[in-house]
Amino acid sequence: MREGRPGEDALTGSFGSGPARWSIVVHGGAGDVAAERIPLHVQGCERAVTEGARVLASGGSALDAVQRAVEVLEDDPIFNAGTGACLNTDGHIELDASIMEGTDLRAGAVCALPPFKNPIAIARQLMDRSAHVLLAAEGAARFAIEHGFARADEATMITESARKRLEAAKNKHAVEGWAGGTVGAVARDAQGRVASATSTGGMVNKLAGRVGDSPILGAGTYADDGAGACSTTGLGEAMMRICLAKTAVEWMRARLSPEMAARAALALMHARTSGTGGAILVSADGSLGLARTTPMMTWAAVVDGALVSGS
Ligand code: GLY
Repeated sequence: MREGRPGEDALTGSFGSGPARWSIVVHGGAGDVAAERIPLHVQGCERAVTEGARVLASGGSALDAVQRAVEVLEDDPIFNAGTGACLNTDGHIELDASIMEGTDLRAGAVCALPPFKNPIAIARQLMDRSAHVLLAAEGAARFAIEHGFARADEATMITESARKRLEAAKNKHAVEGWAGGTVGAVARDAQGRVASATSTGGMVNKLAGRVGDSPILGAGTYADDGAGACSTTGLGEAMMRICLAKTAVEWMRARLSPEMAARAALALMHARTSGTGGAILVSADGSLGLARTTPMMTWAAVVDGALVSGS
């Protein structure tokens, strides 16, 4: 397999030289980031994947690793997830997130969640402490508070850049509804378990209550130890219609490499919906791959102990 590199070659990529004992890759969202800001996005991905890799290196689970990596991305205000999430048409934050493990297909997800710092941790708590998979809006907030999470002061999570982006969308200076900067992670641990996690603020200027692909299993997130795991980013309305994450995982089950599975799923989505986006994948043997049909998607991976990153 060839190494992924920034630039043209990173339209698709595979990492490592064969099956890996453990491996992890994160994305900072498919979108169109100004060239001068791309290094900041890549560095944010590197910090997140390093934290996730630390969990795996110390014998932790793929599930804990993807949660930790996504928490780091949610805390970084440069990304459209957690702090820094984009604003809906009323100027408020509504958050979507999901997490899934591939051994027993357990999962948790929250959608249209009012401001909380780490929606992915609430999704994980739902998976671990309830009989449900997906909670929405105030019901999700009530569950979070009952399980020890503090509701955030929205002002501390709204960035100047998110405000400007909403203003630009309302003034038609930006692509209305563009969903960039969603974050995600997929990993395989040394026990051969895979997991996936995805978190987002959704689309700028979205209607209140709009839910995208990120909290929908099979669209934004999927994991199955028998095939691999996938986290996606891009236009949620297209990704839900094609079940992008599950489609990509099924291509891996059919023995496509992670890179080829990502390419095939994104090509199908574009052919059937015109939607664009990106996907990161880990196969059952720990091979990593990614693809995008957008101008860029920042990412970072650790495989065989080596850190690689790009956009
Ligand atoms: N992919 C993120 C969203 O559309 O909400």
